[in-house]
Amino acid sequence: MLKDLRPKITAIILDTNTSIDARLQGICKLLKESVPYYDWVGFYFKNGDKEELRLGPFAGEPTDHTIIPFGKGICGQVAVSNENFVVPDVQVQDNYIACSLNVKAEIVVPLFLKGENIGQIDIDSSTPDPFTNEDERLLEYTNAQVAKIL
Ligand code: SME
Repeated sequence: MLKDLRPKITAIILDTNTSIDARLQGICKLLKESVPYYDWVGFYFKNGDKEELRLGPFAGEPTDHTIIPFGKGICGQVAVSNENFVVPDVQVQDNYIACSLNVKAEIVVPLFLKGENIGQIDIDSSTPDPFTNEDERLLEYTNAQVAKIL
């Protein structure tokens, strides 16, 4: 059950002996290793006062897309829509930035700090159409926890 991951996420968040980036990295690793259809898990954050996202901690293959302008790709669209974006099949998206040819589906959930959309968690899957409401709830929970330490 995805819900079972919540206490593990909270435990990482509360580990104040570890840097914030290392805790975010730990969350990425936990999610990637625990959910079979999570193949790449990463955080993007607004890059200062620029209208772009910058890659933060992640687990999975390194990506060339360390900077994504607002509006571009699934991530850039979420930066301006403030809404979850679940993509069951990336091939039918015209505003999509491919990171790997293996990716079949993607989910991006915005991260709010004091009501402001300051970043997001992004997950790529090589399984077609794997995401449900449970994934959205887990990732919303994750981002709310992360916001507490930013
Ligand atoms: N596919 C994303 C780009 C980021 S990679 O998935 C890591 C997008 O379309 O915004």
